[in-house]
Amino acid sequence: MASFSLALVLLVYLVSPTSSCTEQEKSSLLQLLAGLSRDGGLTASWRHDTDCCTWEGITCNQDRKVTDVLLASRGLEGPISPLLGNLTGLLRLNLSRNSLSGGLPLELVSSSSILVLDVSFNRLTGGLGELTSSIPARPLQVLNISSNLFTGRFPSTTWEAMKSLVVLNASSNRFTGQMPTTPCVSTPSFAVLELSFNQLSGNIPPGLSNCSALKLLGAGYNNLSGTLPDELFKGTSLEHLSLPNNRLEGALDGISKLTNLVTLDLGGNELSGNIPESIGDLKRLEEQGQLRKFVQSKKTRSSFQ
Ligand SMILES: *[C@@H]1O[C@H](CO)[C@@H](O)[C@H](O)[C@H]1NC(C)=O
Ligand SMILES: *[C@@H]1O[C@H](CO)[C@@H](O)[C@H](O)[C@H]1NC(C)=O
Ligand SMILES: *[C@@H]1O[C@H](CO)[C@@H](O)[C@H](O)[C@H]1NC(C)=O
Ligand SMILES: *[C@@H]1O[C@H](CO)[C@@H](O)[C@H](O)[C@H]1NC(C)=O
Ligand SMILES: *[C@@H]1O[C@H](CO)[C@@H](O)[C@H](O)[C@H]1NC(C)=O
Ligand SMILES: *[C@@H]1O[C@H](CO)[C@@H](O)[C@H](O)[C@H]1NC(C)=O
Repeated sequence: MASFSLALVLLVYLVSPTSSCTEQEKSSLLQLLAGLSRDGGLTASWRHDTDCCTWEGITCNQDRKVTDVLLASRGLEGPISPLLGNLTGLLRLNLSRNSLSGGLPLELVSSSSILVLDVSFNRLTGGLGELTSSIPARPLQVLNISSNLFTGRFPSTTWEAMKSLVVLNASSNRFTGQMPTTPCVSTPSFAVLELSFNQLSGNIPPGLSNCSALKLLGAGYNNLSGTLPDELFKGTSLEHLSLPNNRLEGALDGISKLTNLVTLDLGGNELSGNIPESIGDLKRLEEQGQLRKFVQSKKTRSSFQ
C-alpha cells in the first residue's frame, strides 16, 4: 500500500506540467531587470509568460530553483536589485564587466546560499557595510569586487560570519584604512587576499599570521608603511607575495622562511639592508638568477621583482 502511494506520487510528479520556476523567483529576477536603465536586450528572453529557468543567463536545478545568474559582459546599467538575495537556491552570481552602479546589496554578500559572487569591473560605490552581528556562518567562498569605486574601511568583526571565504579580491577600488585581517581569524581555508591599487594605509597587520592557509597576498600600490612584521614570515603556505609601491621600510631578514614562495615583488619601497643570501634557498622562487643580481648590486633600495 505504501509503495503504491509512493509510485502514485512519483507518477503525478513526473507527469506534472508545473515544472517551471516559482512565481516568486521569476518576480525577483524581473525586478532586477525592471530596475536597470540598460538591460542589454535581456527583455527579449526574460518574459513573464515563460519559465525563468529557460531565460538567458539563468540556470536552475532539478527542483526548478535558480542556481546561477551569469550575466557578465551584457552591457547592463543601473543598480543591482537586493531581491536577488531572495533566490534561496542561488549559488553563483556573476555580474562582472557591466556598468552597474549604486551599492552592493548586503543581502547578496550575506546570502545563505551564494558561494561565488563576482561583481568586478562595474561602477559600484559605497562601502561594504557591516553585517548584523551574530548572524550564522555564511557559505560565501569567492568574493570578487575588484575594479569598482568602493570606498571606506573594510568592515571588521561582523565579517567573522564569512567562515567559508577562500578568495577576497578587492583590488582597484578606493578602500582606505587598515588592511583587513578578519578573515584570518575566522576562516581556516582563507587563501587569497588581493587588495592592490587601493588607498590602504598603516602597517601590515601582525594578525596576518592567523591566516595559516594564505597562498596569495597582494597589496601593492597602496600607502602601507612600517616594517614587514615577523608574523608575515610565519605564513609558510605563502606562494605569492606582492607589495610593490608602498612605503615599507626595514629589513627583509625573515623572507627565506617562506619556503613555498614562488613570486615576490617588493619593488618601489624603502626597504633597506641586504637581501639575505639565504633567499637562494627558496627552491620554488622564480627568476632566482635575476634576484641574485639585485642582492649583489642593490644594497639599500630594493627594486627587484
Ligand atoms: C524578499 O525577501 C524579503 C525578506 O525575506 C521579504 O520581506 C520580501 O517580501 C521578499 N520579496 C519578494 C518580492 O519576494
Ligand atoms: C565571471 O564571468 C567572467 C566572464 O565570463 C569570467 O571571466 C569570470 O571568471 C567569472 N567569475 C567567476 C568568479 O567565475
Ligand atoms: C574574480 O576573481 C575570481 C577569484 O579570483 C576569479 O575566479 C574571477 O575570474 C575574477 N573575475 C574576473 C572577471 O576576472
Ligand atoms: C582579481 O580580480 C581581477 C579582476 O577581476 C583579476 O584580474 C585578478 O586576476 C584577480 N586576482 C586574483 C588574485 O584573484
Ligand atoms: C590570532 O587570532 C587570535 C584569536 O583567534 C587572537 O587572539 C590573536 O591575537 C591573533 N593573532 C594576531 C597576531 O593578531
Ligand atoms: C599615506 O599615509 C600617511 C600616513 O601614514 C598620510 O600622511 C598620507 O597622507 C597618505 N598618503 C596618501 C596619498 O594617502
